[in-house]
Order: sequence, then structure tokens, then C-alpha cells
Amino acid sequence: MKHEPPNQFDLAAIVPGFRAPPQPEGTPDDTALAEAHRRARHWNSRLFGPLRPGSERHRQAVCRMFRDTFNPYRPAVLAWPDLDEASLRRIVALPIWDIAVQTEGKARLRMAAYARALEDSEMRAALALNAWEENRHKDVLARMAAAYGIKLAPEAPYAWPRDPEWAYLVTGYSECIDSFFAFGLFEAARCSGLFAPALVDTFEPVMQEECRHILLFANWAAWHRARLPWWRRLRFEAKVLAVWCFLGWERIGLARSIDANGRGHAQDNNFTVSGAQSVTGGGISARDLMQLCLCENDRRFAGYDERLLRPATMPALVRFALRLMR
Ligand SMILES: [Fe+2]
Ligand SMILES: [Fe+2]
Repeated sequence: MKHEPPNQFDLAAIVPGFRAPPQPEGTPDDTALAEAHRRARHWNSRLFGPLRPGSERHRQAVCRMFRDTFNPYRPAVLAWPDLDEASLRRIVALPIWDIAVQTEGKARLRMAAYARALEDSEMRAALALNAWEENRHKDVLARMAAAYGIKLAPEAPYAWPRDPEWAYLVTGYSECIDSFFAFGLFEAARCSGLFAPALVDTFEPVMQEECRHILLFANWAAWHRARLPWWRRLRFEAKVLAVWCFLGWERIGLARSIDANGRGHAQDNNFTVSGAQSVTGGGISARDLMQLCLCENDRRFAGYDERLLRPATMPALVRFALRLMR
């Protein structure tokens, strides 16, 4: 099996024809930044009428959305504000950095591997750009770790997926789960006042990018399944069910991972629970956090064309859980 060294990611070699998107040189001024952020969170198709999943119009709109909402920020010019002693300690102690870096490393390779397998050139370009953005997230995290002295665990080489479709589904649905909670946690962290507003602002584009990613994933999944003949569709739905079972199993803490030194340790896939305590100082109940996640999820998706599908499972599960808690 092919392995990618952690610090090497040659997307053009994996997805032939891929070209990195243009990024402005130098540090953008406030007006350019605000405009880039606005464009990343608002998009409407110029096509009239419905966008039926699986149709040519739907595919065009999804790929166009992903291209048009690209935010050209460069990690190298992101500002890492000076933090006071207590804030710095709080940031360094967050139990999320290793899993976040490794998740981005895995996601970029899995998305690239699946993009490579796609016949449709526009959808392939969209998924390749998604992989490129995951690599940029990894770069942002590495630069932040360097700026604040966060010690990251050594990364093991990333394994080339044996079944790119399975790996892409695992990554896509993982992002749907993690981003849903991350939206709420991020807002809880912002409101708590425990983190420097400038640092929260630096991460804002990354958070919105995850919203675009799961918007792309939800619409890719609908487009993909609508075009399958019934017998392949059955196989696909069985695979999706297996992915959800796998993710449930992973998230209840049964999954174990091996770090680069060969030590086995429980993977912190439940950082939503541990993270909530860390980012709010323990000041938010599970119920309030779930409600906040739902509100933030709606807010982040609100600017995109209503005819595009949204990830539905996590909001539905959480609404159901809230009803049971009443
Ligand atoms: Fe990411
Ligand atoms: Fe992502």
C-alpha cells in the first residue's frame, strides 16, 4: 500500500490536471478581506427553476458554488495575535490539536484519491479543490502551533485508501458530524470571552470553509446516488449505512489509533465533549450547546442557494435528542 509522508502532498501528481487556485501576493487590506469572506458565505445560482439532484443543472450549480465561494486567504500572512499568559495556556491545553492536524492530513489524501477516480471533470476539480483546502487547513494549524509553542505529536505516514469511495464517504460524513458540533463550539468559544477576538477572527474562514465542504459533500452524495442504477444504488446505500455504523463505533471511543512511535492510544474522537468544557470554562449545558449548534448550522448555511441540499442527518438527530430531553 502506498503511504504519503506527513509533510508531502503533491495534489497535481494525484489528480492529473489539477492547478492550485490563484492567491493574491502580500497581505490583503481589510476591505479585500471582508469582501473575500462575504463571497465565501453567499452564493446563488443564476439558473432559474429547480436544481434536481442528479441533473446536469444541479451538477453545474454545485461545482460553480464551490469555485465561486473559494476564499483565497494565505496561511503565511495570517496574523497570530499576542496572547496573555492565561489565554496562551488555555490554547496550548486544548485537547484538539493533534487530532485536528491528523484529520486534515487524512482528509486531503482521501478527497484527492476519490477526486482522481471521478470521470466528471468539473466534479473532479471541485473535490480536488476541497482536498487542497484541507491541506491549507493543515498548514494553518501547523503555523498556529509554531506561533504559540503547541507541541504536536509526530504524524504517521498517511495511508493511500484501498477503497477511495469508502474513504471519501467516511471523511465526508465525519466532516458532517464534526463540523456541526464545531460550529456550536466555535460560537461558544467566541461568546465565552476566554479567547482573543483576533484569534477567533483568524479561524473564522476555516470554519466557514468546513461549511462549504459539507455543502459540497451533501450535494455530491445526492448527485451521485441519483445517477446510479438501482442495483448499484442498493450497494451504495449499504455502504453509507456501514459508514455511519463505523463512525458511531469510532465516536463512542472504541477506535484506537497508533501514533508515529507505535504506541497505541485511545483516539480523542470525542473532543466535542471534552472541547466544550475547555472552550467555555464548563459554563454551557449539553442542551444549550445542542441548541447553539443548530442555530449556528442554520446561520452558516443561510447564505447559500436554497435549492442546494444541506447535510440533514446531524440536525435531525440533535432535534430528536432535544425533543427527548424535554
Ligand atoms: Fe479541514
Ligand atoms: Fe473540510
